[in-house]
Amino acid sequence: MSLTVTQAQNTQSKVDFKLIQQLMAPAMQKVDEEILKQLSSDVVLINQIGFHIVNSGGKRLRPMLVALSADALNYQGENHTVMAAVIEFIHTATLLHDDVVDESDLRRGEKTANAIWGNAASVLVGDFLYSRAFEMMVSLDMMRVMDILSHTTNSIAEGEVLQLLNINNPDTSEEKYLEVIHRKTAKLFEAATQLGAVLSNAEQQTENAMAVYGLHLGNAFQIMDDMLDYIADPGELGKNLGDDLAEGKPTLPLIHAMQHGTESQSQLIKKAIKEGDRSAYSDILNILKDSGSLEYTEIFAENEATKAIAALSGIADSQHKDAMEQLALFSIQRSY
Ligand code: IPE
Ligand code: IPE
Ligand code: MG
Ligand code: MG
Repeated sequence: MSLTVTQAQNTQSKVDFKLIQQLMAPAMQKVDEEILKQLSSDVVLINQIGFHIVNSGGKRLRPMLVALSADALNYQGENHTVMAAVIEFIHTATLLHDDVVDESDLRRGEKTANAIWGNAASVLVGDFLYSRAFEMMVSLDMMRVMDILSHTTNSIAEGEVLQLLNINNPDTSEEKYLEVIHRKTAKLFEAATQLGAVLSNAEQQTENAMAVYGLHLGNAFQIMDDMLDYIADPGELGKNLGDDLAEGKPTLPLIHAMQHGTESQSQLIKKAIKEGDRSAYSDILNILKDSGSLEYTEIFAENEATKAIAALSGIADSQHKDAMEQLALFSIQRSY
C-alpha cells in the first residue's frame, strides 16, 4: 500500500483519509487494544461511560499523529502505543467535560454521556480518564514526557476557562479567539507530534519542527471545527449544528462578520452572541455567506495547514511524512 506524494502547495487536492487509516491500521489496532485495557475499572459506571464514548468512534487523529510522528522519525520502540492511548484519553476527558460545559447532547452521532448519565457522572468519569492518563504516562518513566503533558493539560484547562470568559461577549477580538484555540485544542496536537519526536530521541530541531507542525494543524483543525458548526451536514458531523451560537461563542466566522458586515448585520450577530440565541442561526448563516466570512475563515485555516506542512520541510521524505502532510490537508477538507 502506498500513498501518493502530496502536492503540499495545493490545499485543494482531495485527501483520502481512509488511505491514511489503512497505512496506520496495525499501529492503531494496538492503540485501541491499549485504550480498552486501560479503560477498565471495578466501578461499573466508569466502564459504562468509558465504553460508550470510546466505542462511539472518533477519528483517533491525535493518537494517529503520535504514531505517524514516531514512524516518520524511524522510531523502533514500543512506547508509542501507550503514548498514543494517553493522548486519546486526555482528548476523551476534555470531550466529556466540554459537552457538559457546552450543554451538547450529540457527539459522534450518539447521545452524549451527559445527555444519558447527567453532568456529574460525565465530569467525574472525565476526571477518571485524566488521572488514568497520568498513571499511564508515569509508567513510561520519562521526565520529558511528563513535563510536556503536564503543561499541555494545564494549557487545555486554561483555554477552556479563557473561552468561558469570552462567552456572550461580542467584543472578543480575533487575537483572543486565537489564544483560546491555541490553548484548548492546538496544544494537544502539538504535544502529540512533539512526543513522537521525544520517543525517537530526535534532535532538538526535529522535535521543534514536529511541535510546530502539530500546533498549526491543531489551529487549522479547530478553525474548521468552528466553521463546520455552521455549515456541516449534521448527519456527517455527528454533532448538532448551531451549538456554538446557542452557547454564545464568538468564533472566527462571527468575529469577521461583525467587523465586515453592514451595521444591521453586525448588530444582529452581537445580540445573538449576547443572548446565546440558536434561533438566529439561519439569519447568521446568510450573513456569514454575504460578508465573505466563511471564505475568510476557510483561508485562515488553509494558511494554518500550509504552515503545518512547511514545518516538515526538514524531515526526511517517507510514507509517514506524506501522510502527515495529507492529514494537515484533511483537517481543513473534512466534513466530520
Ligand atoms: C473534537 O475533536 C473537539 C475539537 C477539538 C474540535 P475531533 O473532531 O477530533 O473529535 P473525534 O475524536 O474525532 O470525535
Ligand atoms: C473543542 O471545542 C473542545 C476541546 C478542545 C475540549 P468545541 O466545543 O468546538 O468542540 P466540539 O465542537 O464540541 O467537538
Ligand atoms: Mg463543544
Ligand atoms: Mg465545535
